[in-house]
Amino acid sequence: MNKKVLILDFGSQVTQLIARRVREIGVYSEVWPYNADIKKIESYNPAAIILSGGPASTTVAVSPRCDAAVFKLGVPILGICYGEQLICASLGGKVEAGLEREFGKTNLNIKKDSPLFAGFWQSGDIQKVWMSHGDRVINIPEGFEVIATSEGAPFAAIADESRKIYGVQFHPEVTHTPDGAKLLDNFVTKIAAIDPDWSMASFKDEAINSVRLKVGDKRVLCAVSGGVDSSVVANLLHEAIGDQLQCIFVDTGLLRQDEGRKVAEMFRRNYHINLLHIDASDKFLGQLEGVNDPETKRKIIGGMFIEIFEEEAKKLGQFEFLAQGTLYPDVIESVSFTGVETSTIKSHHNVGGLPERMNMKLIEPVRELFKDEVRALGRELGMSDELLKRHPFPGPGLAIRIPGEITREKVEILQKADEIYINAIRDAGLYDEIWQAFAVLLPVKTVGVMGDARTYEYVCALRAVTSQDGMTADFYHFDYDFIGRVSNKIVNEVKGINRIVYDITSKPPGTIEWE
Ligand code: XMP
Repeated sequence: MNKKVLILDFGSQVTQLIARRVREIGVYSEVWPYNADIKKIESYNPAAIILSGGPASTTVAVSPRCDAAVFKLGVPILGICYGEQLICASLGGKVEAGLEREFGKTNLNIKKDSPLFAGFWQSGDIQKVWMSHGDRVINIPEGFEVIATSEGAPFAAIADESRKIYGVQFHPEVTHTPDGAKLLDNFVTKIAAIDPDWSMASFKDEAINSVRLKVGDKRVLCAVSGGVDSSVVANLLHEAIGDQLQCIFVDTGLLRQDEGRKVAEMFRRNYHINLLHIDASDKFLGQLEGVNDPETKRKIIGGMFIEIFEEEAKKLGQFEFLAQGTLYPDVIESVSFTGVETSTIKSHHNVGGLPERMNMKLIEPVRELFKDEVRALGRELGMSDELLKRHPFPGPGLAIRIPGEITREKVEILQKADEIYINAIRDAGLYDEIWQAFAVLLPVKTVGVMGDARTYEYVCALRAVTSQDGMTADFYHFDYDFIGRVSNKIVNEVKGINRIVYDITSKPPGTIEWE
């Protein structure tokens, strides 16, 4: 096993970025809750520890602290923001509640050369860093020296070079600190002397080993949707435990054209994975009859999914484990000051409540990864780019792309229009530039003329957006000729649609989906 970094999370919004930066350096890291058991930490055997930032204050009676023994492990430690304050509060320094916050880009005055800054910052430099703090250190523990200051933080960076313990009040993990990645690189590869030899290939091997260890000869159940995350998890598990894996694909009938068949074929023929394909379209469409409200649609679909999954799984015998494709951004860890962590997972990203109900243990092998890292893992597993680069598709599927009531006829009309649109985008070589593109069938009929006849049919809206993470988005600027050709093709070939509109709303104020 390679040397690795342990990040203790004190609840900062950007803790996950620290993990990512360390992995980008080529060193494996994991994020654990701040109060992780010291025995577990010792057996994890980290070669360096990073204490994250966080919203708490060490100046109040109850503040989140890691086990004091962490400071005696003898491994290099870097405290960031709250992490720096905690180092001071724990080792004999003093922190005071700040009257004014120092927030945003700040000038950092480098006071001393340090291995932490080696190669990019020197004593006397003034450098830009990103700060976000209220409290500040006013006295540093014995053995420490100040290596940088800022206007609001006289101890903006401190170091005990002999114990290799460092604290920075600014955030090196965010891109607003231009040299932040270099600082982390120095800490990890020079100060902690960890060879940057970790890669997605080693992650794959480690994940496979740990699944094998955990599962033994027991059976694992995995819900797949045909999307990237669950397909990568299924492939990883299959490589680890072969036929001890059983996948279930609940086909809601609300997928894209022909998708149910394609997903089933891909799993069976390409991946040789045991797959139960349940065609539950009648059940889903039946339950959705007469339902107009978007959230009610979501609830019905989520509830039915769990019901059907549970019923079918029971028929397949006993399973010890349930595998899920939970990603890091799905896990919003809020660290409470009483020491109890609660983690909320977006309800549409998992089979919520199922593990407890079915008495199964959870396996989440990609829990530490970001979306692009999951794609890289998929590539390591030999999966095709065609699957790995697919646009996101929402769990409730076409149900939330048919505002108003859903009927089988409407689903079929929408599938045909969507297929023409997406194929045209692929043929034009634009698919990978776009975060998500899809057609929406509006509950509005308009008058048209085809040949010599009057038509009275549905309006179809086309949507395409660019985005980094789905949180904000801009509409895609198609060329008019392209969108004109797509419009003609849909109106000519899809019976039931006689008018096309293009959605030019950004997010915010719009959302990506229409419901
Ligand atoms: P919105 O519409 O909120 O979408 O801007 C942001 C991203 O989330 C997807 N989305 C969903 N995914 N279940 C899902 O699995 C849902 O209920 C759901 N609603 C939105 C959407 O496709 C986009 O990628």
